[in-house]
Amino acid sequence: MKNLLICGGAGYIGSHCARVLRDTGYNCIIFDNLSEGHREAAEGFVLVEGELSDAALLRNTIEQFGVDSVLHFAALALVGESMRNPIEYYRNNIGGTASLLEAMRDAGVKHMVFSSTCATYGEDSPAPITEDVPQVPCNPYGESKLYVEKLLRRCDGAYGIKSVSLRYFNAAGAMPDGSIGEDHKLETHLIPIVLREALSQKGKLKVFGMDYPTPDGSCVRDYVHVLDLAEAHLLALRYLESGGGTDFINLGTGTGSSVLEVIKIAHDVTGIDIAYEIADRRPGDPPILVASAKKAKRILGWAAKRSDLRTILTDAWAWHKSHPEGFI
Ligand code: UFG
Repeated sequence: MKNLLICGGAGYIGSHCARVLRDTGYNCIIFDNLSEGHREAAEGFVLVEGELSDAALLRNTIEQFGVDSVLHFAALALVGESMRNPIEYYRNNIGGTASLLEAMRDAGVKHMVFSSTCATYGEDSPAPITEDVPQVPCNPYGESKLYVEKLLRRCDGAYGIKSVSLRYFNAAGAMPDGSIGEDHKLETHLIPIVLREALSQKGKLKVFGMDYPTPDGSCVRDYVHVLDLAEAHLLALRYLESGGGTDFINLGTGTGSSVLEVIKIAHDVTGIDIAYEIADRRPGDPPILVASAKKAKRILGWAAKRSDLRTILTDAWAWHKSHPEGFI
């Protein structure tokens, strides 16, 4: 059985991936500082609590468990916060990954699947976005992920560490049985905010901008089910295990949905009228972000299966209904 180190495995995307990989026959060891992750999300796994900056602990963990490959989800991941606190984003996301790569190099681990993002593309990217579109991120979060992608190219050349950087578009949804799901300290993402509004009826939902050059005036995003992301990680791992080279791949569906469409389907799924008000644009929001999913199909044989909006919202709703306060 192969041993995987899952950095950030107690977080939203990492915890779903850990379950899918375990169910496929991998032994998964979670490494997490629990700053955003949840102990409950790591239940049933070996959990090593620590900081990415602690290269010695990472190396000990890799050696203790005979780690074969690393999946790296651990990062600060809020665009707005990154504008206010760029030093933390650079230190944690770039410095932390450098420390992890150092531990991998010293212990001889040669494979990493890395969580990158569509935020590495610019504000004026075409739709759909192919992987060769110039990467000109407009915030420190996207920059920090782009610099890690560059570092990963260099680590292949220098140390033979092969990696796949998966550029997620908008991760959404939850485990269909409602056992784990999205629970951030500070929730800024549309779908959890819409579903919490359905639960609480507090009248707090704001649509940020209705004057975008999109069909209904609200922003368009490419929502991908977290279980589809998990399957892509499995395929990326197999690709590396069978000798695949360092690469950079979008994970999206190729189809965009507007904010108003999300609210409408949320109404259909929950049966609850969800009140909203139109608010100013949120700074830094591109009007449309939609992936070209062709490269993922070509290189990994991956295509989204659960990412239609109705399935995403049904699964997310199962989580929010059963955990209205999140993991407590
Ligand atoms: N939105 C609202 N109201 C809200 C929250 C969001 O109208 O209360 C809108 C946003 O303006 C945006 C859309 O819903 O148009 C989606 O917003 P999210 O915050 O859910 O997601 P983002 O598109 O901002 O963020 C995603 C990823 C980030 C990534 C970013 C790149 O979650 O990790 O795309 O732009 F960096």
